[in-house]
Amino acid sequence: MKILVIGSGGREHALAWKLSLSSKVDTVYVAPGNIGTLLEPKIENIALTKIEDLINFAKKNQISFTVVGPEGPLANGIVDQFREAGLKIWGPTKYCAQLESSKIFAKNFMLKYNIPTAKHVTFNNGEAAKIYLAKQTLPIVIKADGLAAGKGVLVATNLDQAFNFIDDIFVHQKFGIDQTQIVIEEFLDWTEASFIVMLDGKNILAMASSVDHKRLLDNDQGPNTGGMGAYSPAPIVTPTIHAKVIKEIIQPVIDGMHQEGHQYSGFLYAGLMIDPLGNVKILEFNCRFGDPEAQPIMLRLNSDLVELIELGLSGELDQAHPLWEDKFAIGVVLASAGYPESSQKNDTIQGLAQVTQLPGIKVFHAATTINNQQLCTDGGRVLCVVALAQNAKQAQTKVYQAIDLINFKGMQYRKDIASKVVI
Ligand code: AMP
Ligand code: GLY
Repeated sequence: MKILVIGSGGREHALAWKLSLSSKVDTVYVAPGNIGTLLEPKIENIALTKIEDLINFAKKNQISFTVVGPEGPLANGIVDQFREAGLKIWGPTKYCAQLESSKIFAKNFMLKYNIPTAKHVTFNNGEAAKIYLAKQTLPIVIKADGLAAGKGVLVATNLDQAFNFIDDIFVHQKFGIDQTQIVIEEFLDWTEASFIVMLDGKNILAMASSVDHKRLLDNDQGPNTGGMGAYSPAPIVTPTIHAKVIKEIIQPVIDGMHQEGHQYSGFLYAGLMIDPLGNVKILEFNCRFGDPEAQPIMLRLNSDLVELIELGLSGELDQAHPLWEDKFAIGVVLASAGYPESSQKNDTIQGLAQVTQLPGIKVFHAATTINNQQLCTDGGRVLCVVALAQNAKQAQTKVYQAIDLINFKGMQYRKDIASKVVI
């Protein structure tokens, strides 16, 4: 069987790697892929990104099904177009993907279907937003409406910061000319967790729980990023919380989409805030797997991902019973200098060959390239080093021992991934 994965990040490396381990698979093609996928057995990169080229490739090469990694192609309707061409593809349609591609669509959907979320107001002009902000208590959260790779959100602790961010959106158009609306919402100082599921239009299959670390610096300081590291499982997601999330958040998505005349099929990511009493609110939906959550989660999956997606595509997720390794996985992102504002390219990465030999360690590539036969950085989030061990403490020791062996100019990473659950 041949499978196509769309995307080029660490998440896609992890998904393609896991799919390639299936005995059913001859080749996983990744479009466009990265150096990590290029180096894996049974995986081939293809230099295509346009949807029509991908459709032609899938037809010509008898691809059994396609898996979409990032939100961009989903928001552009890749699933609708593949289906129109009679091809199987795993991911939500353009309509359903609005849960991620528009914060305002998502907020309206949550209100309509009683999904618990932070209180919010929307604005389409900066001056009105500033007048409103001046009267609020801080911190407060400002979100650009459209896709911004995790960087379109500011937790403002003072008004100067808030006003500069408003100007960045409306005056300097830092997030693009299409960003003409914002959401301002209450700040929730609770505990965050990522809850990722597979949906087939009617059934729910939860993936292992996880926690991301969105801020750039230790102790949750600095700007928001796409994610600096993640671990799985998340002890905060107890069986009671799990059941509550399914009932109050995930099931209403399936039912709400039905009512709107749509079916949600594909991965769905609910970014949760959980309070000490076990109340849960949702901060955001993403219409895909998390990055870097996929990296530790895939390391713990002991079942065949191909079979799970096949069940998803045929609407039989109720038949799926995945097994998860009863161990702790921690993924730490190594980012280049300047990230998330900018990124430094072409710095030589040293020490990786040694690290890939270590037992219980897997390194997923995101932004790497080969220059003069040397592995080099090629963007913001460069690598994600994942360790699997008996418990959080051992996994943390192991992941940072591995990272000590890796080096590139300006390498930045958080030293406290999973520290809150290490005992
Ligand atoms: P989002 O893209 O909406 O998930 O926001 C990115 C990150 O900003 C989240 O993962 C949180 O760490 C933080 N954040 C977003 N909304 C809130 C909120 N209402 N209260 C506290 N933190 C938030
Ligand atoms: N790790 C956060 C995200 O994938 O959006």
